[in-house]
Amino acid sequence: MFSKLIIYLKIIHSMTITIVGSGRVGASVALNCGLRELDDILLLDVIEGLPQGEAMDINHQLSENGIDSRVKGSTSYEDMVNSDFVVLVAGLGRKPGMTRMDLLNKNANIVKDVSNKISKHANDATVIVVTNPLDPMTYLALKTTGFKKNNVFGMGGMLDLARFKSFIHDITGSSRKSIQAMVISEHGENMLPLIRFSSIGGIPLNEFLSNEQSQEIFERTKKVAAEVIALKGATVYAPGNAVATMIESMKKNKKQVIPVSAYLEGEYGISDLCIGVPVILGSNGIEKIIELQLNEYERKIFDLGVTSVKEGIKFMQSEIK
Ligand code: NAI
Repeated sequence: MFSKLIIYLKIIHSMTITIVGSGRVGASVALNCGLRELDDILLLDVIEGLPQGEAMDINHQLSENGIDSRVKGSTSYEDMVNSDFVVLVAGLGRKPGMTRMDLLNKNANIVKDVSNKISKHANDATVIVVTNPLDPMTYLALKTTGFKKNNVFGMGGMLDLARFKSFIHDITGSSRKSIQAMVISEHGENMLPLIRFSSIGGIPLNEFLSNEQSQEIFERTKKVAAEVIALKGATVYAPGNAVATMIESMKKNKKQVIPVSAYLEGEYGISDLCIGVPVILGSNGIEKIIELQLNEYERKIFDLGVTSVKEGIKFMQSEIK
């Protein structure tokens, strides 16, 4: 009777969105999910006090906004039981001058440890990986949890896409609402902004841009995260909002087309690797991977991304089941 009561209490108190890592990006994910009223939220961290403090601060903003979702902070992984979504954003961020791949060694240990805990306490969850280097970390989380491939994927492309669209807006002056675009491949040095698959109000982007302008925004999209890190130490708001958009698409079964780091099994001629590709996100997680017909130039960059991610995976082979 008593144990049944405990289980019941756990169910009614379960938080359906858990964020592991309550640092800058984790807190931003929590705030953005809260503002969209996606569900109750649990912030977890290893630093006692940090998730609790962030939860209080965010709850106070939600109170100002008249939103009833609750945010709780904890250092106890048991609290993630029954989570529908787990956002894995624990780990070190880049310091100025570092590439994402420079974080591989340290973050692999953290991602493996957290993934084991997710499979123990929240084995029905959909896992969104954010920790860098994104594509190898997504692969590690997928292999360690043993969850289905449509339920473990990474957020990187949506952020790269937001940056790409921001440059298109700056250069053309067109409304951000009219801009459609796509960025695929590695969330790193070999990301691929796809000018050819981008448009303004349905009109191909290259009707608005000279070749030099296209090349300029292509390069700036790849480098702008490092600029932000050099200026303020981290990127925070846009990644938090991107994760909330992905969760919203799944929770509301919106089936948005979003680039995510997905496990490929033959798509794009690639197998056994996670890399950024457009997918349809619905209530079953990744519902479809969309295969684009890349031209020779695009394919070359995509293949460089594949090689880089493969090297990352090889480097942490001992961590993989
Ligand atoms: P941060 O340093 O502000 O926060 C990281 C938090 O993780 C810390 O509070 C730390 O205590 C916690 N943590 C470490 N090990 C843990 C464990 N085993 N369990 C629970 N919590 C643990 O870092 P920030 O800026 O929030 O970035 C986090 C990660 O996200 C970095 O790897 C960063 O590179 C990545 N990132 C990825 C983006 C993407 O587009 N995929 C965008 C922005 C950041």
